[in-house]
Amino acid sequence: MLATSSFAAVSFEKEILPFLNKKCVDCHRAPYEENGKKKEPKAGLRLDASWAILKGSENGPVLTAGAPDKSGIYESVNLPKDDDAHMPPKGEDLTKEEITLLKKWIEEGADFGGWIGSKDGMPADAQTSSSKPVKPREHDLLFAALEKEVKPLSDAVLGAAKEAGAQVAAVKVESPLLRVDFLTGVSKCDDAKVESVLPLKENIVALDLGRTVITDAALKSVGQLPRLVTLDLRQTKIGDAGLEALTSLKKLHSINLYGTQVSDEGLKHLAKIKSLNNIYLWQSKATKAGVKHLAAALPGVKVSIE
Ligand code: HEC
Repeated sequence: MLATSSFAAVSFEKEILPFLNKKCVDCHRAPYEENGKKKEPKAGLRLDASWAILKGSENGPVLTAGAPDKSGIYESVNLPKDDDAHMPPKGEDLTKEEITLLKKWIEEGADFGGWIGSKDGMPADAQTSSSKPVKPREHDLLFAALEKEVKPLSDAVLGAAKEAGAQVAAVKVESPLLRVDFLTGVSKCDDAKVESVLPLKENIVALDLGRTVITDAALKSVGQLPRLVTLDLRQTKIGDAGLEALTSLKKLHSINLYGTQVSDEGLKHLAKIKSLNNIYLWQSKATKAGVKHLAAALPGVKVSIE
């Protein structure tokens, strides 16, 4: 297998749409007239538009991003052929390969990639893309792009960081991108320890400092990691002021501030990190009002507060 293949996200338009059009859409499309008779989509389900697939059938949703086993469009093609609900009921079955692609596409978050399809009967407020992109895939794509920008680090550089107590691992086999944590010695991981990973700064995409004894000062080091994508600061002593140092981060997608002293003041700094799309604030000092301001500043962000 090629090293790059695990990044290959299934493209809806290239790999799914062609077989839906060929094998499903005849019976699952916008109402039309044939010989003076109006034909309705079977089961009220249209598969000729993203918003229609997301809307589902007369019985409810047929697609759950991330969960093929909760997605009727996947379940129905997998049923035994003699089952009444097997799809398609007549005509050419999906091939094994097509079924696998469909499964993978749903697992990866059911991203339509901007495809809308038929606008016939589309409500003005229709949802045209899956609302729950699945994070691992997002990160995979981002990592694939970031990977091209960096070189692998020498064993000497990696060794020095490990000696300081950091656990350092490639995000996947042969990737120069690194995941760093201090899980083997959280009580010894202080601000100086965090500084000791700076020689790896170009390559770090994930940093877990949860439950360590760092203070706001450590975030000055963290703010120097240009490719940081996920940051875990849960149950540390960091507070509002420290977060200002993170506003230099341009790739940060997710930050975990569970059980910290961060309040609405700190959220004002986060509001400047436009790449953020996941913020965890359980048991912090942030309020619902603060979160509302934050969400307004970062459209599309998901904030978990309880
Ligand atoms: C020859 C017409 C025909 C084709 C082709 C067809 N379907 Fe269907 N489909 C139906 C009918 C009829 C029903 C209703 C079955 C029932 O109620 O038992 C249905 C129901 C469904 C349902 C269940 C909807 C619900 O929630 O009740 C799904 C999902 C579905 N089809 C998906 C597909 C997919 C995916 C394909 C292509 C692989 C496909 N269909 C191809 C006729 C078709």
